[in-house]
Amino acid sequence: MSIEEFITFNDVVIVPGRSPIEPSKVNISGKITKNITLTIPVVSSPMDTVTDWKMATTLARLGAIGIIHRNMSKEEQALQVSKVKDQKPYLWEEVQKVDPDSKIEDVLSKEQDNFAVVINKEIKAIILKIGADYSLHSKKIDYLSKLLSMINLTPTLDENNKLRVGAGISPFDLERAKILDKAGADVLVVDVAHLHNDNALSSLAKIAKNVSAEIVAGNLGTIDGVKDTISKVENVSGLRMGISSGSICLTGEVAGASVPTLTATINARKALEELGLFGKIPIIADGGIKNAGDAAKAIIAGANSIMVGRYLACTEESPGIKIRIGDKVYKQYRGMASRGAMEKRYAEDRYSKPSKAIEEGVEGLVEYCGSAINAISEMALGLQASLGYAGARNIEEAWNGRLAKITSMGAKEVGIHDIEV
Ligand code: XMP
Repeated sequence: MSIEEFITFNDVVIVPGRSPIEPSKVNISGKITKNITLTIPVVSSPMDTVTDWKMATTLARLGAIGIIHRNMSKEEQALQVSKVKDQKPYLWEEVQKVDPDSKIEDVLSKEQDNFAVVINKEIKAIILKIGADYSLHSKKIDYLSKLLSMINLTPTLDENNKLRVGAGISPFDLERAKILDKAGADVLVVDVAHLHNDNALSSLAKIAKNVSAEIVAGNLGTIDGVKDTISKVENVSGLRMGISSGSICLTGEVAGASVPTLTATINARKALEELGLFGKIPIIADGGIKNAGDAAKAIIAGANSIMVGRYLACTEESPGIKIRIGDKVYKQYRGMASRGAMEKRYAEDRYSKPSKAIEEGVEGLVEYCGSAINAISEMALGLQASLGYAGARNIEEAWNGRLAKITSMGAKEVGIHDIEV
């Protein structure tokens, strides 16, 4: 037999290309499905420590999208979908405006959580004061004010001007898919580690025939996986690519199986190119994306948007509990195949009966990182910079960009070295 070679984000760097424009002019809008475009191509993972209605609302207001997790009854999940639809679409509508000359102490002593600094009727920055943890990082405020001046914040809206929202489903749970569809979910994201399974695909094919929401199929890793999915399931509207690259993933360790997100993305691209569908069915790169650099590498490889868990689990808006240890604050983050998450799921729903009893995820803590608004702003600005290096004006052009494999010594040099930080 021959051994294949898989590569991951840290194995490659972006080859700088001739850029016709300034990074601030790079258009980073990308797709999650055939019909849903995001001005910021970030999708939050359907995990119970990442996305509930609150995270989904914040993300859609910023021009990204959230996928509500399925670790709850189908009725509750549908209720959360409706709740997002009921929220005001514009971030600023619920934010109190403050004069730029106000004293920080005065602003912080007020009752509201968020404040927008308004100069000449334009919002220049937002100050976030959340619960007992005042997150007032001047650096972060700076990111947001830059974002506001660079990107015209456009919420992700449906045809009725309501915020768009997605929901995670099992390929075996037709009833849940129907209820979520009825509640107004714009996209149903299949949430299994290995969709390339005959039973899962035939069951998903049935769901696809019974809902009007668009379907993102996954997770997948291989060329054959993508081809079989597209041939067996009508109207696949997006592909969720990556197996066991997530920060909490144990699959690669306990089951020995993995297709790193970068390789999985390239495989999806190859399959779609062979079918003449590349650029028509969006690829969502999922797992292991730590920062904008990784996101840009995934995009250059062929992704239209990226999915993150860890990157948003640390934020205020994630549903995980907050824990203080010493002088540090943490949030809980766990894999959906971790013991705790699986126990919760099976207790909630008989359709989620385990097809395997082994744990394939871990539970842990991530250091609290303030609001998702900051995290998304930082990602958006970083993506503009990265695509600028690649010489691309937008995501479609980035697909012509180049990645170069780097040696392990090179990878070391790419990181910070020989300095105390
Ligand atoms: P990051 O790196 O963004 O990855 O935290 C999030 C993605 O990881 C996947 N996921 C899991 N994979 N066991 C796994 O092997 C798990 O328990 C698990 N939970 C989530 C999923 O694709 C998610 O989007």
